[in-house]
Amino acid sequence: MKKSVLITGGAGFIGSHVVRLFVKKYPGYQIVNLDNLSYAGNLANLTDIENLSNYHFEKGDIADGSFVKNIFEKYQIRDVIHLAAESHVDRSITNPLAFIQTNVMGTANLLTVAKEHWKNPSDHLFYQISTDEVYGSLGAEGHFSETDAYDPRSPYSASKASADHFVRAYGHTFKLPVVISNCSNNYGPFQFPEKLIPLVINNILNNKTLPIYGDGSNVRDWLWVGDHANAIDNIFHKGQKGATYNIGGNCELSNLDLVSQICDLMDKKLGRQPGASKKLIRFVTDRPGHDQRYAIDASKITAELNWKPEMNIQEGLSRTIDWYLNEKEWLEQVSSGAYLKYYNQQYRHEV
Ligand code: NAD
Ligand code: DAU
Repeated sequence: MKKSVLITGGAGFIGSHVVRLFVKKYPGYQIVNLDNLSYAGNLANLTDIENLSNYHFEKGDIADGSFVKNIFEKYQIRDVIHLAAESHVDRSITNPLAFIQTNVMGTANLLTVAKEHWKNPSDHLFYQISTDEVYGSLGAEGHFSETDAYDPRSPYSASKASADHFVRAYGHTFKLPVVISNCSNNYGPFQFPEKLIPLVINNILNNKTLPIYGDGSNVRDWLWVGDHANAIDNIFHKGQKGATYNIGGNCELSNLDLVSQICDLMDKKLGRQPGASKKLIRFVTDRPGHDQRYAIDASKITAELNWKPEMNIQEGLSRTIDWYLNEKEWLEQVSSGAYLKYYNQQYRHEV
């Protein structure tokens, strides 16, 4: 029987890249994509692989016990790569309970079904995809390392931290083989246009203002989504069971610098006057509890698994912008309805 890998959240941004990589690279695996197609999940992210015989899609909620149990039985799931989540920090400020329900209850439900279904746990792997935000916020110096204590500060990061704790607890108590990776900010094609980079690209295209929270000095470490998918492939196949791996792009940028780079690139690509897009920048009220800086020490995954980021930010941003310019239909489709309603209710007031 072929190895069946359950990938949750495969219709989302990172999940669709991971599903595509695994379906194409491992034709001997059955890849089961479980996703409830929330506002952030879109099967249009996977049209190029949807007809391949080793790809299966199942629509449902990770927090639904009997549904997940049926999926484990139907496909005889051997391993799980768990990406499904509520993923946007701003939404976690507006509606924290949705994050507890999916990120905490959903993860605990998957773990419980895996524990009950897997008779010989050592044959299996439960891989939790997590975030660097669980470590808290840095000042001007330092990097997050795998041994740092968790210090989540937003409802989103608290829900991811809680989920990670449950993953470790099931590993410790029930001997479930688990692995966790904590990654920095991803960017690239198929990212929902509520996150900073696609939001800015979309707004420039539509001559809308570019909201920068606070003074724009907050720093994020940016990683090309394809590099993250490769890291996940490495950890899934070669990572030590029970371990944690930090994944980062070694690419720290302040939000203002990043948005300025996108503006310059977009002016060139759209044939606009130099400086035209920057005129759309507006400083707006800060995100409540806004973490100042994230930076990752990824030396462990480089030393142990020989992984390092391959894409540089100039090339990655250029490719990302080209993708959004070519996929205006996708952009329009996903940014209608719920997204716009949410966007209009946000706390973005010019200061
Ligand atoms: P995303 O919001 O683009 O995708 C999440 C997917 O999960 C969507 O397809 C959605 O439909 C699905 N989903 C949501 N709730 C569900 C539920 N209850 N049941 C089944 N499916 C559900 O998110 P993303 O940016 O691709 O992030 C994927 C994972 O990676 C998340 O766990 C996130 O915490 C983590 N992560 C993201 C980043 C980043 O920069 N985006 C960085 C580090 C870690
Ligand atoms: O660090 C990893 C995390 O990165 C992931 O775990 C999250 O799922 C992902 O959403 C991302 O979180 P951030 O909050 O860092 O990403 P976001 O794109 O929302 O914001 C990036 C930075 O830009 C952050 O400092 C807030 C700021 N920002 C964001 C938006 C949407 C603005 O200034 N204006 C905006 O309109």
